[in-house]
Amino acid sequence: MKKKTVRSGLVGAGFSASFHFEAIQKVYGTNVEVMGVYAKDADMARAYAEKRGIQAFESLDQLIENVDVVHVNTPPYAHEAVAVAALNADRHVICEKPLTGYFGDGSPDFHWSRADMHVALQEALASVERMIEAERRSQGRLMYAENWVYAPSIQKEREILEKTGGQILWIHGEEAHSGSHSVDYAYAARCGGGVLIGKGCHPLSAALYLKRVEGRVRNGQPIRPKAVTARGHAITKIPGFRDEGHIRCDYYDIEDFSMIHIVFEDDTIATVFASDIVLGGIHNWLEVCANNHRAVCNINPNTAMQTYNPREENFRDIYVLEKLGTKQGWANTSPDEDWFTGYPQEIEAFYRCAAYGEEIESEIHLAADTISTIYSAYLSSSRQGAEVPVKAYG
Ligand SMILES: NC(=O)c1ccc[n+]([C@@H]2O[C@H](COP(=O)([O-])OP(=O)(O)OC[C@H]3O[C@@H](n4cnc5c(N)ncnc54)[C@H](O)[C@@H]3O)[C@@H](O)[C@H]2O)c1
Repeated sequence: MKKKTVRSGLVGAGFSASFHFEAIQKVYGTNVEVMGVYAKDADMARAYAEKRGIQAFESLDQLIENVDVVHVNTPPYAHEAVAVAALNADRHVICEKPLTGYFGDGSPDFHWSRADMHVALQEALASVERMIEAERRSQGRLMYAENWVYAPSIQKEREILEKTGGQILWIHGEEAHSGSHSVDYAYAARCGGGVLIGKGCHPLSAALYLKRVEGRVRNGQPIRPKAVTARGHAITKIPGFRDEGHIRCDYYDIEDFSMIHIVFEDDTIATVFASDIVLGGIHNWLEVCANNHRAVCNINPNTAMQTYNPREENFRDIYVLEKLGTKQGWANTSPDEDWFTGYPQEIEAFYRCAAYGEEIESEIHLAADTISTIYSAYLSSSRQGAEVPVKAYG
């Protein structure tokens, strides 16, 4: 079959735009022509474009006009506006996580600790519903760039569920490391909250996805989240925290630890941890306890490769693992971190959807359920863990 050609453009020229570009280079089922980039920070866009030999567009409209697929790689507060503009022009959208959220009341002294979490939930859901409606009216699809869904270990678990008809009783999982370097990350108004949304969205989406798969296998109906209980803490802000220089601790108003416990429609459960207080490199895992099997998905780190390095400077030019504090001694060096993380697989699947109309696993209703669960969790946390119902879209 002759490969179709699809034109794409990236909005945002930072960290995630870089790994999206890398993943686009690996797409094999579709010819992807990267037309250019647009970013609010024009210097950043120019530098990004020059490095990759592409055009820096002067406006979002100009980019949308020239492409079939728009990658949304902006901070979360801008996701809705960019995605809806692209969908309104009948373009496909690849939207980074989290889909959207609540970004404060617009006041310069907005502080998450004083925000009403009931309002946050209502506004986040209103944003989700505007995005669902924009996709419904569009010829384009919104593809939710939740790489955990496409991580090889999660897709292997999908296969196990499909072939064995397993019933998941409990999922537990975590995303953690020692703190994001992003400046925006410190401010809830730019990211829609703290670690619960920023990192928790990943294992949460994977858990929601696998329960959807289970239901799909059984009777074609997804098993959706019903209620959530959560706690959040700012551990690096407690008066007794002793900073030894290994953990980021200069956040403005976000929580750096969260635990959420989800009850599904069938009364089975999932427990998800997310934190910025864990040393030793990124810690991304999901464990599935089913009635007929158990699976531990070690996304990162894993033992695909282990290295021992007696002197730090030996590995000066060698990338070992995300957020690893030292390269000396034993390490779970990742031979291809992007692959284990699911980046090339998600982008391949999204271009197959754009070019040939193939179905996608990570779509807008999964993203919507993730946001709905997260903001119900924030409301629960503001009530010291009281259970809050979850409105499901799946
Ligand atoms: N899936 C993952 O593993 C992963 C990892 C990191 C970041 N992300 C997500 O990617 C998104 C971007 O994060 P990042 O780390 O790349 O940020 P970044 O700060 O590195 O880059 C953000 C870019 O967006 C541009 N921008 C900001 N507001 C804009 C607007 N209104 N219109 C156009 N451009 C705008 C900035 O100029 C900048 O170029 C976030 O949603 C984040 O959650 C996902």
